[in-house]
Amino acid sequence: PRDLRELAQRHGIKIGSAVDVAALRAEADYRKVLNREFNHVTAENAMKWESVEPQRGVYTWADADAVVENARRNRQQVRGHTLLWHNQLPAWLTSGVADGSIGAAELRSILRDHITTQVGRYKGKIRAWDVVNEVVEEDGTLRQSIWLTHLGPGYIADAFRWAHRADPRAKLFINDYNLEWNQPKIETTLSIVKDLQAEGVPIHGVGFQGHLGIQYDYPGDWANVMRRFADLGLEIAITELDVRMVLPVTPEKLATQADYYRRALTDCVSVRACEEMTLWGYTDRHSWVPGWFEGEGSACVMDENLAPKPAYHALLAVP
Ligand code: XIL
Repeated sequence: PRDLRELAQRHGIKIGSAVDVAALRAEADYRKVLNREFNHVTAENAMKWESVEPQRGVYTWADADAVVENARRNRQQVRGHTLLWHNQLPAWLTSGVADGSIGAAELRSILRDHITTQVGRYKGKIRAWDVVNEVVEEDGTLRQSIWLTHLGPGYIADAFRWAHRADPRAKLFINDYNLEWNQPKIETTLSIVKDLQAEGVPIHGVGFQGHLGIQYDYPGDWANVMRRFADLGLEIAITELDVRMVLPVTPEKLATQADYYRRALTDCVSVRACEEMTLWGYTDRHSWVPGWFEGEGSACVMDENLAPKPAYHALLAVP
């Protein structure tokens, strides 16, 4: 294959990237490579609640629309990210809950309206939604968030039902990090899925974020974990793959990184239900890693100049 798009076609899967909207608008080279290499995209931040409703009742869709419109023009499918999370919530919402001016009943109707409005706006244009993001803690308990505290655990089923009503054809996902290997998280997420299915709640997929680092072992059991979810009838997606390293970059580290990318794609293609692998940005020019992990970086498959790194070539070589 000549590029990731051809690779995706050859494997019969989608290969995607997170999209930085500022770069999409301002950088022709970024835009060109994005549209050449990927047949699937996720807005890195533009569809998060704080982005789309920064003030109560004031919707700012321009950035999210730009991602969807660019995707349409370039025949890319879209993952919607994300409807419910505990981070990147608008301040009016978190402060209203904190000071008691927004009570439980109102919070529930705010969430319902948010999901209905956002999913409805993009009806027919989003292949898959990350309906709930990171709702399980590392120890396997449900995440302590305003949603759990004020609405109780039923908020998860509600979110899926509301999303389904707004776009019955969109595939609805539960998404999380460390789900590649963390046993308590895996077991709890499996039981959430089973409970939802037993209640007839529409859930169609599980997303593994896949934020890896070469200073940790590759999650060698990942394909088996994928299969446990696939056995419940779910679609599998790797939704936010990146492989960071402690700086400085060395040729050895880049080789290890390439191997992690290769193994992630190999795991996905070895599981029939794994239909999408999305990179959390494709270039080190616009990666979240240096800003979030001190002393780490170089997590993407292309460098700051959009030159392919060994990881890019390793992906192309996956049989
Ligand atoms: C990150 C973005 O990449 C950053 O630009 C932003 O500042 C914080 O969020 N898990 C997720 C993503 O589900 O939404 C996060 O994205 C990375 C971790």
